[in-house]
Amino acid sequence: MKNRVAIVTGAGSERGIGKAIACKLAKKGAAVIIADLNEKGANIVAEELKEKGYKAVGKEVDVTSRKSIDHLVEAVRHDFGKIDILINNAGIARPTKILEISEEEWDLLFAINMRGVFHCTQAVLPSMIEQGFGRIVNISSIAGKQGGGVFGTSHYAATKAGVLGFSKAAAREVAEYGITVNSVAPGLIDTDITVGMAPELREEKTKLIPLKRSGFPQEVAATVAFLASNEAGYITGEEIDVNGGLLMD
Ligand SMILES: NC(=O)c1ccc[n+]([C@@H]2O[C@H](COP(=O)([O-])OP(=O)(O)OC[C@H]3O[C@@H](n4cnc5c(N)ncnc54)[C@H](O)[C@@H]3O)[C@@H](O)[C@H]2O)c1
Repeated sequence: MKNRVAIVTGAGSERGIGKAIACKLAKKGAAVIIADLNEKGANIVAEELKEKGYKAVGKEVDVTSRKSIDHLVEAVRHDFGKIDILINNAGIARPTKILEISEEEWDLLFAINMRGVFHCTQAVLPSMIEQGFGRIVNISSIAGKQGGGVFGTSHYAATKAGVLGFSKAAAREVAEYGITVNSVAPGLIDTDITVGMAPELREEKTKLIPLKRSGFPQEVAATVAFLASNEAGYITGEEIDVNGGLLMD
């Protein structure tokens, strides 16, 4: 991935999937933009990577705001000259049951998990189309395929199912420009989202996983990095499960 420039949203969380993805892409030689609502967290991750000799920079972004996304994209184009890879990873989950979901909570999940993916994709596409190359990987979830059942409930499942449909439709539209769009659907992965689960619920869910354990963020990152690589150039509109066998389809 030498000379590739990658934006990873939601990569400023210490134990998150985004950070693991940013590390993996940086190790493979890409210059990585750690973009997160949590600017401090983004800068800490970028510093960690720079200390290891990798190319990384932390940037604040709020994926619910098109203005904020445009500002990020302009800054990256100015500083790095191009954008080759976009990983739409920023996301939140809530375990609220349907009858208790407020309109605000519903809208918040859609604004981050779904509209954020659309706006970030739309913002980077002109530059990818111009150069005739791009890799976009969207982080969905097993919840979007089987209807929740791990941590997030109906609104979360709806956003993550939406990400799968969006990715495929986008993949069709931009394939002619050398741009691929794929999704990765993780199962139960050890991050800040899932450590909040009640221990009994966690145990119950883990028992159902054929591999009998939760996954590591690095195991999701490896798949994302593959889809973002040159080698994956003939894969588009695909969704890859990283779930220990919890859902086989
Ligand atoms: N952990 C799991 O088991 C699991 C399973 C399936 C899918 N996922 C998905 O993986 C992705 C990463 O989740 P994680 O588990 O690493 O969680 P995490 O909470 O560790 O990371 C999410 C990151 O998104 C950032 N973020 C939140 N709102 C934002 C906004 N408006 N703009 C920019 N950044 C924002 C947060 O600051 C945080 O750094 C999410 O899309 C999540 O839905 C996680």
